[in-house]
Amino acid sequence: MKHPSEPVPAAAPETAPDAVDQSRRRFLISATTVLGAVGVASAAVPFIGSMNPSRKAVAAGSPVDIDISKIKPAELITVLWRHKPAWVLRRTSEQLSILPGMDPVLKDPHNRQPQQPPGMPTGVYQYWRSIQKEYLVLIGICTHLGCIPDYVPQPGGSLGPSWKGGFHCPCHGSMYDFAGRVLVGSPAPLNLPVPPYYYLKPTVIRVGALKGGKEENWTPAIW
Ligand code: FES
Repeated sequence: MKHPSEPVPAAAPETAPDAVDQSRRRFLISATTVLGAVGVASAAVPFIGSMNPSRKAVAAGSPVDIDISKIKPAELITVLWRHKPAWVLRRTSEQLSILPGMDPVLKDPHNRQPQQPPGMPTGVYQYWRSIQKEYLVLIGICTHLGCIPDYVPQPGGSLGPSWKGGFHCPCHGSMYDFAGRVLVGSPAPLNLPVPPYYYLKPTVIRVGALKGGKEENWTPAIW
């Protein structure tokens, strides 16, 4: 096990999904937890406890219930699920309006890769990647080498005039839109994963299974 203070390696060439070194990814997830936490803090993203699971239940991968009633427009919250950061972003109408026009600059605009569980809603889902378009639920782990991307909602800025807002990975620059779909030119090969989830009631999302307890053990191709 390498020491966590070892610097994150420099940019790597684009990697085919099958060729990703899983042991290396595991190390980087561990080594970049601190970096990710700093990134999250600097983006003023609140990290909240879930509503009900015990520590033991979370460690075992039990579903986690998230109260979304207090999330403000454009706000992103993070909850731990299976020791991974599960994000809920309450998207504004402006953020949503950008998504249908993103196809030409996306690697997988229609979510053909298995980065979301089977049985999730289809149709408009290809753009929103969510059950209700306002609330995006993702696992916040870059599909390149496992860093935690920053939420960068402002267009332009240091990411250039073509940046429309979304998520930017501080490790090697992968970019994702407001649906977690990866942009062409990013080293990350796949979209950010959507976990299995459903609405327990209008203000509570249960992450970790589809309705009826289905797909509890589902995992994406990369996370
Ligand atoms: S880990 Fe390399 S771009 Fe995110």
